[in-house]
Amino acid sequence: MQGYKMPNEFLWGGAVAAHQLEGAWNEDGKGMSVADVMTVGSAEKPREITDGVLPGKNYPNHSAIDFYHHYKEDIKLFAEMGFKAFRTSIAWTRIFPNGDELEPNEKGLEFYDKLFDECHKYGIEPVVTLSHFEIPFHIVKEYGGFTNRKTIDFFVRFAKVCFDRYKDKVKYWMTFNEIDNQSSFDNDFLMATNSGILFTPGMTDREKEAAMYQAAHYEFVASALAVKEGRKINPNFQIGCMINYSPVRPLTPSSDDVLLADKFEQRRDFFSDVQVNGEYPKEVEAYIERNGFRPDITEEDKIVLKEGTVDYVGFSYYQSTTVSSEKVKPDELSELSEAIAKNPTLERSAWGWEIDPEGLRISLNHLTDRYHKPLFIVENGLGAYDKVEDDGSVHDEYRIDYLRSHIAQMEKAVALDGVDLMGYLPWGPIDLVSAGTGQMDKRYGFIYVNKNDAGEGDLSRSKKDSFYWYKKVIASNGEDL
Ligand code: BG6
Repeated sequence: MQGYKMPNEFLWGGAVAAHQLEGAWNEDGKGMSVADVMTVGSAEKPREITDGVLPGKNYPNHSAIDFYHHYKEDIKLFAEMGFKAFRTSIAWTRIFPNGDELEPNEKGLEFYDKLFDECHKYGIEPVVTLSHFEIPFHIVKEYGGFTNRKTIDFFVRFAKVCFDRYKDKVKYWMTFNEIDNQSSFDNDFLMATNSGILFTPGMTDREKEAAMYQAAHYEFVASALAVKEGRKINPNFQIGCMINYSPVRPLTPSSDDVLLADKFEQRRDFFSDVQVNGEYPKEVEAYIERNGFRPDITEEDKIVLKEGTVDYVGFSYYQSTTVSSEKVKPDELSELSEAIAKNPTLERSAWGWEIDPEGLRISLNHLTDRYHKPLFIVENGLGAYDKVEDDGSVHDEYRIDYLRSHIAQMEKAVALDGVDLMGYLPWGPIDLVSAGTGQMDKRYGFIYVNKNDAGEGDLSRSKKDSFYWYKKVIASNGEDL
């Protein structure tokens, strides 16, 4: 398929997160993170968040794909595909094992020195997320995660140490991964991973929602302070926010459905609105006020938010969202999940994720119109079951189809709609542990890793058909799809 050529400096590559591939969960002084207490789940069964690491449970992130010891081999394969950029996170607990120490763990810092050096050896630009679902479990238990103002200081200390140490090795940063996931405050997994909050049994939805607005506010302040510190350390840094963007469609043309779609979108966009504009949007401010949530927001915080706005908007795109006012009217919207309807025009993945390539072009247009900032696609992809043939090959044409159709829409947004796009980093270029289900068999990679949900396999790496396809896409700068 013929695509459009992307600008010369366009960053083609891939994206991962430390906890989903590194393994070595307690090596070289690393502490326990919230991801380390999550058991394996499935498409039907949610992951359990346990109170510490319990005997007899399967915690897939503990060993993951052992990237900690295989990174040289893996980066070499990324280089072979022609990667210009590689997004990963710095595991907070490698640097500050409990999160509240004053001095960092040198061994943890050394690992990322080696990793970033390895990237640069091949001309691959590291793109780094500071907090990607990896908050230290000690902060969760002792401080209540981001419901506690003290956690701002812990995060900023961590950010400063990273900025300082890697100031000549990393230019592109993001503060909090998919900070807007917590708009689904009734989802325990999202609250734990976003904000380090474990709800106590019996908490009402209202209390959960209030906790979310408080935690989100402290994260905004932490992010803005980090941006300010980062700029002092290296004025050339590009520091972005990171959201899980999903354009919202009304199920029908009724005014209720259309208004509900707007309300839904406002409630989610709130997170990037604050990080880009440095102030709360009117709708959410009115909503918080009307519901009496009253988060602790000081005058000083408001100044910090204005001073620490982001340089670009990083986002993941997997699917669009369709809403219906059948169960919930626009003015009653609180739990977002109540509004979600199935889109009858779209196909779904084996995990029920709706496949909507045009939604990516729509996203790029919406975000450009809303923020007037450069955009960066830092996740996109299809989780699928792969079959390994007798000769070891994996014919993953379904993955190629998904990526090709999304890249084609992305290229139209750049070439026809004038979107300022920094790059495209599809999720999981190498198979890794699924964040949502903890599975290995929900695979995104161009590179197959021999390990299954039961933890069996020798961890050997091999190239899928999509590996050769993506290599060709990058070599042609997007023209040959
Ligand atoms: C995003 C996360 O939500 O989606 C990743 O930033 C995650 O960490 C990715 O892995 C895909 O989701 P899942 O549940 O299929 O791993």
